[in-house]
Amino acid sequence: MKNNFLSVGDWSAKEHKSFLDLTDKIKNGDYQKVLEGKNISLVFEKASLRTRVSFEVGIKKLGGNTIYLNNDDIGLGKRESVTHIAKNLNRWVDGIVARVYLHSTLINFTQNTTIPIINALSDLEHPCQALADMYTIYNKFKNFEKLNLVYVGDGNNIASSLALISANLGLNFIYSSPKKYQIPSTIFNQATNIAAKHESKMEWIENPHKAVQSADIIYTDKWVSMGMEDEEKTRLIDFKNYQVNNKLISQAKKNVFIMHDMPAKEGEEIEHGIIDSESSLAYEQAENRLHSQTALLHKLFS
Ligand code: NVA
Repeated sequence: MKNNFLSVGDWSAKEHKSFLDLTDKIKNGDYQKVLEGKNISLVFEKASLRTRVSFEVGIKKLGGNTIYLNNDDIGLGKRESVTHIAKNLNRWVDGIVARVYLHSTLINFTQNTTIPIINALSDLEHPCQALADMYTIYNKFKNFEKLNLVYVGDGNNIASSLALISANLGLNFIYSSPKKYQIPSTIFNQATNIAAKHESKMEWIENPHKAVQSADIIYTDKWVSMGMEDEEKTRLIDFKNYQVNNKLISQAKKNVFIMHDMPAKEGEEIEHGIIDSESSLAYEQAENRLHSQTALLHKLFS
């Protein structure tokens, strides 16, 4: 069976735990060049800095070659159907890393190819980011037990991936968003069912000040994700009480860490300066994208 990676919810808790060890190994230079002679296509419908660069570097570290295609090159679903693009790429390359608007595009790719498909962000999930985030947290705390990860903001792709991965690794995941912007219920229910097996807690608290009280980590993301630009005006109003600022941080545990997947809109979801402050893990998260994605490629192509 071919290896795809579309959701952090597809792996067992055991797989997630051993993946942290694999990431450590890769970070320490202990890997084989499993992509020697292989070509990986990066199909990006949306903009990217961290994901693109970290994947390109990781693929090259493992001996592979990258072919980057943006939407102007291929026009997914416009110039040509998604199915036809998938079937053509399948004849030339050994794997696809895809950043797409619709998660259904990724499903279509998996159904029309025999090569691994990796989700580099969709409207539903941002699973590669969540892998790097858990590795970052693990490096700080060495243990996930009784850890409270509090996400403040939009119940979007990264929020969904964080809920699912926290449930698998046994962290408590508490998130605070306006009612209208909650994590999709199918995903949150899936996370709640997984969490029940690991005695961890999944909770939504509308009031961000209440939500952060027990926080070991506060995580936030943009209020206007790529593809939602039309909603910007409404969103800036709806989220105005959900900014991660020094006042909110002062209500959490004393040495709380701040996480952000970036790009950050300083002055919106996060107060100016916090990303570059002592308590921020944002650049460690960014660095760990490289290690965890290289580990992911190693796992899928070994
Ligand atoms: N939620 C954001 C993440 C960006 C890396 C977006 O989808 O635009």
